[in-house]
Amino acid sequence: MAEMPKDWNNHKGWENYYASLYPNGDFADKCFWTGSISLDRVESLAKELNQNNRKTIWISGCGISLLPKALAQRGLKVYATDISPSAIAFQNSKEKRIQDLLDKQILLEINDSGSLISEIQDFRSPYKDNFFDLIINTKSFQGFDKPTMASVAKTHFDSLKPSCNAIFDTMNVQGENRENFEESLVSAGFLIPFYELNCWYRKKLNETGIPYVFVLGNPFIPRFGFYADNEELVEKDTKVLREIAAEFHQKQQESIEQEREKLQSPKAKIATIIYSTG
Ligand SMILES: C[S@@+](CC[C@H](N)C(=O)[O-])C[C@H]1O[C@@H](n2cnc3c(N)ncnc32)[C@H](O)[C@@H]1O
Repeated sequence: MAEMPKDWNNHKGWENYYASLYPNGDFADKCFWTGSISLDRVESLAKELNQNNRKTIWISGCGISLLPKALAQRGLKVYATDISPSAIAFQNSKEKRIQDLLDKQILLEINDSGSLISEIQDFRSPYKDNFFDLIINTKSFQGFDKPTMASVAKTHFDSLKPSCNAIFDTMNVQGENRENFEESLVSAGFLIPFYELNCWYRKKLNETGIPYVFVLGNPFIPRFGFYADNEELVEKDTKVLREIAAEFHQKQQESIEQEREKLQSPKAKIATIIYSTG
């Protein structure tokens, strides 16, 4: 199996990766991984979207995830795009062996009012204009350099309808990368819940000079270097980080109403970022 390219702008690298998985490789090992929106949550997500009449969904940088097919088979109008022809061939395939994988994983009653349009699209360039009710970008943003992030963010922003949401589902985005990630989305026009407060939080933590990673929104000290076996130091510095975290949570509680008002503005396009570690 080929490796994923280190340089995310290496389109040939992405194609080599997916061509090594589909049609003649171990695609079945990979296609179940759909990030935080796992296949067993598809039923409830689709129900909610159908009820709220938010039916037009873009899954950007879809790879060979089964999520586009699963949502399309629940009555939604799904667009799944990628720059890899092999990934798009997978998404467009009607092969029984792929459908069997999906059926084995989620016993969904198929609602055939939905549709799946899967096409090659480079999301550094414009796609649709104020078109989607929801965008799901699973791990297809975090690996780009800053200038690329800016153009990818703009395409996502322009493609989303106002008062709708784009979900950016990430894995292991820490430190400066997190700043760049959020900054690109905000510069493109997205509203990120509690953005300013989050920037304040990270700045305060960084000023301590204590190394940390976020796990479920809380700062933890990685146990290597100085901290590998110095329990006393870990305890002392953890206390410092925890105090800042407590102040952050307090401020967050205090600004909930104000934040809600901002997000409910009819023009707002919201970016929800899911930070996972793994
Ligand atoms: C880490 S993979 C994630 C794939 C899939 N979303 C998943 O969760 O398995 C990043 C994806 O972004 C796609 N990609 C890279 N550059 C792209 C571009 N300029 N336009 C559209 N897709 C791109 C890759 O082909 C790849 O499928």
